[in-house]
Amino acid sequence: MSSTTKATAGRARIAARTLRTDNWWRAPLVQATVLTVLLGYVVVRLFMRQWYWVAEYNYLTPLYSPCISSSCTPGSTHFGTIFGDLPVWIPLPIVVFPVLLGFRGTCYYYRKAVYRSILQSPTACGVAEPAPRYRGESRFFLFMNWHRFFFYLASLLLLINTYDAALSFFPPGGFGFGLGSIILVVNVLLLWGYTLGCHACRHIVGGKLKHFSRNPLRYAMWNRISKLNARHMQFAWASLVSVTLTDVYVMAVSAGWISDLRIVG
Ligand code: FES
Repeated sequence: MSSTTKATAGRARIAARTLRTDNWWRAPLVQATVLTVLLGYVVVRLFMRQWYWVAEYNYLTPLYSPCISSSCTPGSTHFGTIFGDLPVWIPLPIVVFPVLLGFRGTCYYYRKAVYRSILQSPTACGVAEPAPRYRGESRFFLFMNWHRFFFYLASLLLLINTYDAALSFFPPGGFGFGLGSIILVVNVLLLWGYTLGCHACRHIVGGKLKHFSRNPLRYAMWNRISKLNARHMQFAWASLVSVTLTDVYVMAVSAGWISDLRIVG
């Protein structure tokens, strides 16, 4: 053992931030960049208050679903209005955004990504963090324990997104669909893959059981969820990008920048 390691009770005292020589900084840098850009985009969209609904094809962006204020564009309030008119400084998705932010922000995978890429705690294995003391998920970060509750709320929103996607096949003129409907469906599938693969969901389905053999249905569901759970990181990124792209498409059609590619009807 070297003299530097003897001097510390916990971690080795090494002057260099890391002895790693590989590109350990690349993944955190990419993650921080993508997360910042996507979060910035979403915040801008939340305050735009327009181009979130295409009445002609029943396209509603997932960022504004459900729209439950009297300020929402007529036709986009599929579940009625709970709030009256909202001042311009309050985003119309006043319920949606906190739930989605809470769900993703407390997700086990995103926690790892954010701790590494943005908080740098630590940036990578074998790389010293800038903070003098490691406090773990204590104090303010205790709200991370609410993840399972956000899971329930996000699942509810996802059921609504699924309804929205189905509704896009029944525009005012009768059955028909276009590229927008397909984008909405793919987005919902990716969101289900992400949500069902949640660690909290896996525990709800298969946890607290002493004998799987006595609960064959839960065991079968747990097996399938475990497969999604093994790809949770991939679903986390794919669904985040798909929500953004779905919103971009609905915005572009709603604003009249492009026409929806109609396949039937
Ligand atoms: S752990 Fe990622 S959504 Fe629950």
